[in-house]
Amino acid sequence: MKCLECGYESELSQRIITCPKCGGIMEIKVKIPSNFNFSMLRGRGVWRYRDAIPGNYNKTVSISEGGTPLVSSSFSSYLFYKFEGANPTGSFKDRGMTIAISSALSEGYKVVVAASTGNTAASAAAYAARGKMRIYLVLPSGKVALGKLAQSILYGATILEVNGSFDVAMSTVLRLYKELGVVYPLNSFNPWRLEGQKTIAYEIAEEIGVPDNVVVPVGNAGNVYAIWKGFVELMEAGVTSKIPKMIGVQAEGASPIARAIQKGESIPEFVDSPETVATAIRIGKPVNWKKAIKAIVESRGNALTVSDNEILEAQKKLARLEGLGAEPASAASLAGYQKAIEKGILGKDEKTVLILTGHALKDPDAMLKSDARRILVNPDHVDKIILGELDASS
Ligand code: F0G
Repeated sequence: MKCLECGYESELSQRIITCPKCGGIMEIKVKIPSNFNFSMLRGRGVWRYRDAIPGNYNKTVSISEGGTPLVSSSFSSYLFYKFEGANPTGSFKDRGMTIAISSALSEGYKVVVAASTGNTAASAAAYAARGKMRIYLVLPSGKVALGKLAQSILYGATILEVNGSFDVAMSTVLRLYKELGVVYPLNSFNPWRLEGQKTIAYEIAEEIGVPDNVVVPVGNAGNVYAIWKGFVELMEAGVTSKIPKMIGVQAEGASPIARAIQKGESIPEFVDSPETVATAIRIGKPVNWKKAIKAIVESRGNALTVSDNEILEAQKKLARLEGLGAEPASAASLAGYQKAIEKGILGKDEKTVLILTGHALKDPDAMLKSDARRILVNPDHVDKIILGELDASS
């Protein structure tokens, strides 16, 4: 393990979450076994890749996360969607949560805590429930999509709502972790969580080989790094022979990383009051910014910003052309992909995977923003309306 801030190096330990010396973000260097071979693996989902996941797990908490569908596009044979909405709580967070909660239990923790824009909360609540752990969620008051809040309530978490953005909630959890010691943090500054999320790369590589590009919506910035890390490990072991370009997408009103990449700067300018319809990625001060910039730069990728309007149009397009229901943050990947093609950053004939990080059902208010054909009718007039429309269109 190595600290990205001060360079401190340590042996692998599940006790270590942030740097014991400076409190910085830690990386876990993983060398997968030289005989690693997809054809020898068993089971499906995250734990299928157990040989590539470091750590000891004498207790595992799993709800069959991962193994999500890779759906081919109906309008391009080069385009695929990794539909993470098919995870048990409807987002990719479950992949990291199975590892983090199992790690916490194996290390003897009884209390877990997470800040969240919503999906981490829902996922953490489910896995904590299954692991019989006490959970406190620190959420930005009034800024969490309804479906996610409802999930957290259903799974029985204690919800502590704070005034301000996700960034306030995040710094509260960091402080709690550092000062209290007894609480185990489930946010993505915990590098063990990312070990679960990297299995997105393993699944893609196993199913279709390594694509040219992977497009990922970026918020707190852990996932783009985790997926890149998975591809790097496979290549270093000789299982695959290349790494895809990692393309990060942020909403215009919450885009410190995309702006830094576009300006060629290595340190982002944080955003004080982030705003976007994609509440999952309404984040101004991404805790994993260093990891994300590393993944994007080292993969020779890129980063884009998209407007709220572009996000909602992409969400509608996914639903109405592909039959895929994705929440706004996830639709940002399609909006970003389209923009990248327009700008000549990506080619239409490059094999590209868009990560659809969360299910549309997470955010009913966003779905209701789509133009609807809802007509209040007398039941006797229904036939007339339909026949009238069929006549008009024939
Ligand atoms: N997409 C969705 C649906 C998310 O919920 C998130 C993050 C992201 C993308 C961005 O991933 O943070 O690794 O860059 N949601 C977090 C949460 C912040 O609290 O649920 P990231």
